[in-house]
Amino acid sequence: MKQEYLDSLIPKRSDFLDNLRYKSSLPESYAPIVQKPTEQLIITILQMIKPKRVLEVGTAVGYSAILMADNLPDDSSIITIERYKKHADIAVDNIFASGYEKKIRVIEGEAAEVLHWLDGGFDFIFLDAAKGQYIEFLPDILRLLNTGGVLLSDNILYHGMIEDDDKVERRKITIVKRLHMYLEEIMSNEKLTTSIIPIGDGVALSVKK
Ligand SMILES: C[S@@+](CC[C@H](N)C(=O)[O-])C[C@H]1O[C@@H](n2cnc3c(N)ncnc32)[C@H](O)[C@@H]1O
Repeated sequence: MKQEYLDSLIPKRSDFLDNLRYKSSLPESYAPIVQKPTEQLIITILQMIKPKRVLEVGTAVGYSAILMADNLPDDSSIITIERYKKHADIAVDNIFASGYEKKIRVIEGEAAEVLHWLDGGFDFIFLDAAKGQYIEFLPDILRLLNTGGVLLSDNILYHGMIEDDDKVERRKITIVKRLHMYLEEIMSNEKLTTSIIPIGDGVALSVKK
C-alpha cells in the first residue's frame, strides 16, 4: 500500500504545528522533524500511558515537544535536550509562542553530559538525537526511565542501512555499526522488552520491566 495513502489518513494537527512543520521544510529555515506516522504513534502512546514526566533527547525547533504537550495531561511536564544553540533558541521561542513555556523545559547541552546529571523518574522517553550515540546514552536512559516506563527510539532503521549492507554509505559505517550495537542491546537487555516497528524511518518501542 502506498505510504502517501496511509499518511493521508493521519488527522490534521493544529495550525500552529502545521505552520511549524511547513517552516521547517523550507531551505532557509530547515530543521529535521519527526515523520508523520511516528508522530501519530507518539500521540497514541501518550494517550495510552498518560505520562507525568517526559524526556526528549533531540529538540530541534521544538515541534515534537509541542506535539507531546498537546497530548499530555495538564499536570505533566517535558524536559527536552538540544546541543545546537541555534535550534535550542528557536525551540524556546516556538514553545513560548505555543503557550507551553511552563510545561516544557529546554536544556541546551550535549545529551551525553546532561543525561548524566539529570534526575530520574521519567514515564516516557523519546530518543531522537545523533543515532550513533544511542548506545552511549543507554545506561543513563535506563537509570532515568521508571519501571513500566516507555522508551521510543527513532530512526533505528536509518534509511534502510540497518537491514541492507548494500545500502550503507561509506561515511555512515560507524553510525550503522553503533546502531546495530544499540538494537542488539535493547532487544536482549533483561530490563527491557522491545519491539522494532518499521514505520517512518523505523522506531524501537521498549518498556522497562
Ligand atoms: C531529528 S532532530 C529532532 C527532531 C525533533 N525531535 C522533532 O521531531 O521536532 C535531532 C536533533 O537532535 C540534536 N542532537 C543530536 N545529537 C545530540 C546530542 N548528542 N545532544 C543533544 N542534542 C543532539 C540535533 O542538533 C537536532 O536538532
